[in-house]
This record gives sequence, C-alpha cells and structure tokens, in this order.
Amino acid sequence: MPLNLVVLLLIATTFFVSSRAEDPYKFFTWNVSYGPIYPLGVRQQGILINGQFPGPDIHAVTNDNLIINVFNSLKDPFLISWSGIQQRRNSYEDGVPGTTCPIPPGKNFTYILQVKDQIGSFYYFPSLAFHKAAGGFGGIRILSRPRIPVPFPDPSGDYTVLIGDWYKKNHTSLQAILDKGKKLPFPDGILINGRGPNELSFNVEQGKTYRLRISNVGLQNSLNFRIQGHKMKLVEVEGTHTLQTTYSSLDVHVGQSYSVLITADQAPQDYYIVVSSRFTSKILTATSVLHYSNSNKKVSGPIPGGPTIQIDWSLNQARSIRTNLTASGPRPNPQGSYHYGMIKTTRTIRLASSAGQVDHKQRYGINSVSYKQVDTPLKLADFFKISGVFRPNSISDKPTGGGIYLDTSVLQADFRAFVEIVFENQEIIVQSYHLDGYQFFVVGMDGGQWSSSSRNNYNLRDAVARTTVQVYPKSWTAIYVALDNVGMWNLRSEFWARQYLGQQFYLRVYSDTNSLRDEFPIPKNALLCGRATGRHTRPF
Ligand SMILES: *[C@@H]1O[C@H](CO)[C@@H](O)[C@H](O)[C@H]1NC(C)=O
Ligand SMILES: *[C@@H]1O[C@H](CO)[C@@H](O)[C@H](O)[C@H]1NC(C)=O
Ligand SMILES: *[C@@H]1O[C@H](CO)[C@@H](O)[C@H](O)[C@H]1NC(C)=O
Ligand SMILES: *[C@@H]1O[C@H](CO)[C@@H](O)[C@H](O)[C@H]1NC(C)=O
Repeated sequence: MPLNLVVLLLIATTFFVSSRAEDPYKFFTWNVSYGPIYPLGVRQQGILINGQFPGPDIHAVTNDNLIINVFNSLKDPFLISWSGIQQRRNSYEDGVPGTTCPIPPGKNFTYILQVKDQIGSFYYFPSLAFHKAAGGFGGIRILSRPRIPVPFPDPSGDYTVLIGDWYKKNHTSLQAILDKGKKLPFPDGILINGRGPNELSFNVEQGKTYRLRISNVGLQNSLNFRIQGHKMKLVEVEGTHTLQTTYSSLDVHVGQSYSVLITADQAPQDYYIVVSSRFTSKILTATSVLHYSNSNKKVSGPIPGGPTIQIDWSLNQARSIRTNLTASGPRPNPQGSYHYGMIKTTRTIRLASSAGQVDHKQRYGINSVSYKQVDTPLKLADFFKISGVFRPNSISDKPTGGGIYLDTSVLQADFRAFVEIVFENQEIIVQSYHLDGYQFFVVGMDGGQWSSSSRNNYNLRDAVARTTVQVYPKSWTAIYVALDNVGMWNLRSEFWARQYLGQQFYLRVYSDTNSLRDEFPIPKNALLCGRATGRHTRPF
C-alpha cells in the first residue's frame, strides 16, 4: 500500500464520528499546480489538478465519505468548493471563504465530506480570488446505491461535459480589472471540457444510449447546448430525477447542471455538439464532435443554430422542467412523497440585486449590501465566539431601495424554518443564484414585479428541487427551502465577477441548542486563520 494511503487510512480511523462508519470511504490525493494550457490557441497559465485541466471527475455513490487531501502548489492561498454537495450538518467542509480557511501555498488540507442522501450531477471549483477563470474545476457524479431504482436503463456510457465561457486574459489580469473598479470584458470564447473547436470527440456506438452530464462552469454567460440531428431526453437536474421530456436544445445558465440521455439512432457519421452563448448581441459558439464508432463521414453541413435572444423560449423551457414524482431519488421512496406544497412557509425573504459604485469602484450587492470579505471565516468566528467579525442580520430580508454599501452581510434564519425566497431582478441581464447546503424547490418564475398574488401561480406539486436557479431580466423567481441544515451557507450570484464584487451573503441557519445531533463539531484538522489563529479545535 502506498504511504499516503496508509496515512489517509490512519486519518480516517481517528477522525470520524461513529455514525458515518458504516458508509464506504473514497480517498483522493490532489496536487493543485499551475501549468500551461492552450484552450483558445494561446498559451495560458492554467490551474491543474494532478496535471489535468479540467480536474479529475469524482465518482461517488450516495452516502459515500469522500476524503480529499488537497496539496496547494500554487503561489497563492487556495480553496475548493463543492457546488451542490449539501455538507449535511457540516458547513466547515464547504470550502468557501466564509466557512473554511484558505490552504496556504505549499500546504495541504484534507476535506472530509459525505454525499449524504444525494444523487446526481454536480461540480467542484476554486472559490478564492478569481481562480475559477483559470481552471481547477471538475465534475462530480453521485450514483444511486445498488438497490435503489433509477428511472431509466443503465446507459452504455456516461460523459461529463463541462461548458463555459473563457478569456484569453489570465485570472490575475481579470481580477486586476475588477479590483480597479471596472467591469469584466466580453469573453473570448467557449470551452467544452477545457478544449476549443472540434478538439474533442465523444464516442458512441450505433443504437446505444448515453448519459451526458452538462455543467456550466463558466464565469457569466448562459449557454445553449444541442447536438446536430439528435434529440436529448432530460433525466436529472442537480440531484432530482425529472419528468423525461425531450428537447432539441437546452439552456444551461451559469452554475447549473443537467443530465440528458442521447441515443445514437442516426446515420453512421459524425455530428456537431454545439454550445452557444445566450442573450448576447455577439454570439460565441463552440463545437465538439459526436463520433459514431462506425462513422463513414466527418462532421459536415451548417452548425445547427439555436435560440439567441428569446427569453420567453427559455422561460417556457424552465417551467417545463418538473420532478418525476413516482421516480426514486437517493432513497427508495418516491421523490413525490415529500409534499413541499402542503407545508406552510414561516417566512418570506425577498432578495433584489443591486449594482452601483462605492468609492468610485463598481460593486454589486443584494438588498443594497455588497459583501465585504473578512480575514476570519464566519463559521469559525461563530464556533469560537469571536465577536466583531460579523453581525447577524446585517442584511435586510427585503429590498430597501437605498444606495449600495459594503458590509459582511449575514442573514439569520431559524433551524427547521420553511421559507419562501423571492429573487427579484430589475436589471436587464439574466441572473443565476446558488445556495450552498441545500436543494430548493423552484415554485415559480415570471416577468414583472413579484407580489403576494404571484403565489396563485406557484407550482406546488412537481417543481424541481435543485441548487442553482436563473432569474430572467425584469423578472422574479421564487423558491421554497426547508432550512433543515444548521450552518453558515453562502448564497451567491454565479455571475463570477458579481460574486467577487459583493453579490453574495451568508445564510446563518441557527440553532441555539448547540447539539451534536444538529451540527458536527469543527473538524480536528481544520486550518485556523485570521482571528481564529491559535485556537483549539477540540473543546468537545
Ligand atoms: C505537485 O506538482 C508540482 C508540479 O508538478 C510538483 O513540483 C510538486 O512536487 C507536487 N507536489 C506534491 C505534493 O505532489
Ligand atoms: C496533509 O497531508 C498529510 C498526509 O500527507 C496528512 O497527514 C495531514 O493531515 C494533511 N493536513 C491536513 C490539514 O489535512
Ligand atoms: C497573468 O498575465 C500577466 C500579464 O501578462 C502576468 O504579469 C501575470 O504574471 C500572469 N499571471 C499568472 C498567474 O500567470
Ligand atoms: C417517471 O418515473 C417512472 C419510474 O418510477 C418511470 O417509469 C416513468 O417513465 C417516468 N415518467 C416520466 C414521464 O419520466
């Protein structure tokens, strides 16, 4: 056995509370370093994981414990976050600056997380600075346990397809633009699994069916995904098995993940896989190849076009994405056995994006507060009772109409509350929001201003439960979320320059009982930084 595995097994046996012991462990050792990449034909300094760009996929099964030892060989502090992994009772492992100390250059940190009661397609990404513009991301798939029925036959292949806009400028140059108070320029291209035009083929055999797990890991653009001559059957969205509806193209907003099935049922040749930007006046397009093993013809013909500006098209597609109530999710019982529509909401939180200048620099915010980073993770300040790091309820739970200002915004909510959150968008761009620690029900979205009568049109029966949702221009999106996961959870814009410039806050889901049943203790290997430096992680 290699030495690092022995060490990891030792960690495994000393670190875990007994309740997790029966579930399997999977071990990963990752080395994060800079290395040359050439995605748009120019040499760039990419962030590689074990030499790879994009990073390696994580393949897990529901309830697996994932032990991921990340060595930071960059010259900057680094953190990875796990988009859509719920980190039940364990926000310490979330890997965002509000929960976890950065891994210093030359050091390592072992994430100890469990994909408890989850299935589906997600991804990981670097959460500090503007690292996401350089790589360091990869796919996460969580398969169902062997005896839990999956509502479609096992596919003949299962591909991760990471799509996203891309810049020729490196992440430090992009960050410098934002630090100067300027807006991010228009991207230079779109990548599919880190590759440029037609550099990549997905191989299929005639007559067989494949699963594609498509995630938009880009910085800002909504993208449309389609395959020449082929239809796609949507089967899963961020952990929910959907009604299996057929689409000829699919909008994937920034931060979102979708699984589709495609059948190689056309003439044996090569076909274009196309990704293009949505809602932009200049349209960026990228292509890969769907290659039949018995193909007798290279890709040819015009690249199939997709929707460009049409917002109604996108809104209608979003509304057509529903939960299959009779299919199982991570548990054997059907997804529809949780009747979210019959639970009374105890609170309504209305969140509107804000954009404006603070000290002559561009900033973004939510309900007029632009999030200001602090030296100490809020979760550690909470745990060690360090005052002066943040104030609970330093952000209003409804739009204030006031001017934008900086603060370390934390919204407090009660453990076990069942809340309605309305995202309001008065701007002319599509927004995309993500909440860590949860899956939420997307009960409604529409144009105009939200009002209490908007509730009359909510889908209280088969709305999809997911982790990232779009809000169309001059529109609103409403979600229901059961706050059953104690912790400090990042709610952020997935438009990366906007989250960097403050369009985010932390939701402190709080229980005053301090019970180990509700929240795990701080991990014994937790890195300590800022005002938490030198504290002891074992007061229990
Ligand atoms: C990580 O990769 C870098 C670059 O290849 C190498 O110099 C370094 O020794 C590696 N570190 C570890 C811990 O494997
Ligand atoms: C760093 O890696 C070593 C094994 O190489 C491990 O023993 C140690 O716990 C890791 N550090 C952290 C903070 O996880
Ligand atoms: C990014 O590009 C700038 C300008 O070319 C260069 O000075 C800087 O070192 C680069 N940063 C990285 C991380 O490669
Ligand atoms: C819903 O899931 C069931 C499995 O429980 C499956 O038989 C059925 O085809 C699915 N229906 C749709 C419309 O996707």
